[in-house]
Amino acid sequence: MLFENMPVITKEEIQDALDFSTNQVIANLPEFTHKFQKAYSENGFYQPIENNYWTTGFWTGEIWLAYENSQDERLKEAGEIQIDSFLHRIDNKIEVDHHDMGFLYSPSCVAGYKLIGSEKGKEAAIKAADQLITRYHPVGEFIQAWGPMDAPENYRLIIDCLLNLPLLYWASEETGDNKYRDIAEKHIHTAVANVIREDFSTWHTFFFDMETGAPHHGATCQGYRDGSAWARGQAWGIYGCALAYKYTGRKEYIDLFKGVTEYYMTHLPKDMVPFWDLEFTDGDDQPRDSSSASIAACGMLEMIKYIPEEEGEIYKKYAMQMMKSVYDNYAVKDSKESNGLVLHSTYSNHSPYNTCNHYGVDECNSWGDYFYMEALTRLQKDWNLYW
Ligand code: GLY
Repeated sequence: MLFENMPVITKEEIQDALDFSTNQVIANLPEFTHKFQKAYSENGFYQPIENNYWTTGFWTGEIWLAYENSQDERLKEAGEIQIDSFLHRIDNKIEVDHHDMGFLYSPSCVAGYKLIGSEKGKEAAIKAADQLITRYHPVGEFIQAWGPMDAPENYRLIIDCLLNLPLLYWASEETGDNKYRDIAEKHIHTAVANVIREDFSTWHTFFFDMETGAPHHGATCQGYRDGSAWARGQAWGIYGCALAYKYTGRKEYIDLFKGVTEYYMTHLPKDMVPFWDLEFTDGDDQPRDSSSASIAACGMLEMIKYIPEEEGEIYKKYAMQMMKSVYDNYAVKDSKESNGLVLHSTYSNHSPYNTCNHYGVDECNSWGDYFYMEALTRLQKDWNLYW
C-alpha cells in the first residue's frame, strides 16, 4: 500500500482541530457576520468583502460546521444573517451569471435549511438552482461555467462544476420537479466522459463544438499547462465522482472514482499534500495546494459509504493520513499568525502555459478552510452532508 507508514490523525487531534477552528470562526464573527471573507488571505489574513464573489458560501459553511461542533447560538445567529444576504443576492441577481450556484448556496443555504430548518435558506437555494439551470446547453448537454452563453470561446464546462450539481438534486427532492435532476445527470455524463483522460488524470476545462455539441478539446485555466493535472481539479474530480455515484447510483462512477483517486495518490509528494499541480513533486520549488488534500479526503470519506468495507478501509486510511499531515504541517495553530484555518494553499498561480490571473498563492483560502472543517467533521461523526 502507498504511504503505508504515514501516521493517521487521532480522535483527540480531530477534536482539537475542530475546536481550534470553531474558536477561530467565533473570533471572526464581529468582522465577518455582515461581510464575508475574501476568497484568499493576504499574508495570512482575510479581508472583508461584500457577498459578490463565487466563494462566499464557504465562509457561511464554516459557520455552520462550527455550529454543529459547538451548538453556540452566536454561530446560529450569524448563519441566519448570512442566509438573508444570500437571499438578497439571488433576488437581485448580484454576480450570479456563472455556474457556481452550488458552491455558493449548498454550504450556506441548503446547510441552514437542513440544520435549523431555515425557510429563507430553502427559498434562496431553490432560486439558485433555477439560476443554475439557465446555464444548461441542450445541444452540448452541459452547464456552461463562465461568461455569456452565446460565444464559442465560452462554450465549455469545467471539472469543478461537479460540486455545483448536488444543489440540483436537492432542488428536485424539495420541489418534486425532476427538471433539475435531469440536467444534473446530463451534465455529469458529458463532464466525466470528457474531462477524465485515459490515464485518469483530468482536464481542468473542456470545449465543445457550438453547432453540433461534439467534444472539441481540453484546456487548462488554473493548472500548470494544458496536459498536466491541476491538483485541485483532480480533487474536484475525486469528490465529484463520489457525489455523482451518490446521486445517480451508476456503478461506472465508482470505477472513475477509483481511477482518479489512484492517479492522485501516486502523484503526491512524501507528506501527502500536493503541490498546486500534480506535475510537481518533492524537490520542486513550487507552492502547495493544501485545499486539494482536504477536498480529496472529503471525496474519499463520501465514497467509503458505498463500497465494500475492506476497500473503504484503504480510502479511509488515506483520508486520515492526509488530514494528519494537513493538521500537523499546514493548519494555523495561533490566531496571531492568521485569521484563517489552513495555510499554504493556492488559488490561482500564473504560469507561462495557463490563462489564469496570479493571486492567492501560498495563502489560506476560503474553500481550503471549509473543506478542512468538513473532512474533520466527517471523521468525527456520521455527518449529514450539505452537498
Ligand atoms: N472552482 C474554482 C477553483 O477551484 O479555484
